[in-house]
Amino acid sequence: MEAYEKLFLWFSIALLALLLVALAYTSFAMHVHVPGDAGMIMVKPGQTLAGAVLTTPPFDHPGLRQLGPGRYEAVMFGQAWSFYPREIDVPAGSEVTFRATSVDVTHGFFIPGTRVNMMLIPGLISVTSYRFDKPGTYLLLCHEYCGLLHHTMNAQVVVK
Ligand code: CUA
Repeated sequence: MEAYEKLFLWFSIALLALLLVALAYTSFAMHVHVPGDAGMIMVKPGQTLAGAVLTTPPFDHPGLRQLGPGRYEAVMFGQAWSFYPREIDVPAGSEVTFRATSVDVTHGFFIPGTRVNMMLIPGLISVTSYRFDKPGTYLLLCHEYCGLLHHTMNAQVVVK
């Protein structure tokens, strides 16, 4: 009986170690992490979340800005049921850093066919980057249920 207990104990320890290794691998080697580590929106007393977002840089000036040759930052926010701005235009080969948040409820931020896939959580800032090599019109979709017109919530990235 004692031999089985020992075996079981070692098995449990080995499993725990394996899961810790898997966790370390996904977070450090594969860069899998929760969105929202790019900052928060501070809501002052008497202010709504929307009011706070729209007066907090860089969300007080949403849109596209050039950071350098072939490098852009797209500052965007989700609001039921659209993204603002509705369209981003960049030349082919551009590296675009999306900095986005939500002014109301949780929204998704997903561009099929790319690595752009994050959640916009109210009060948190989500950031991701992607290089658009192929010209075309990329649809930006909300893939978190956010209410009645969730399925119509979209914007587009036009790559020329
Ligand atoms: Cu926004 Cu679904």
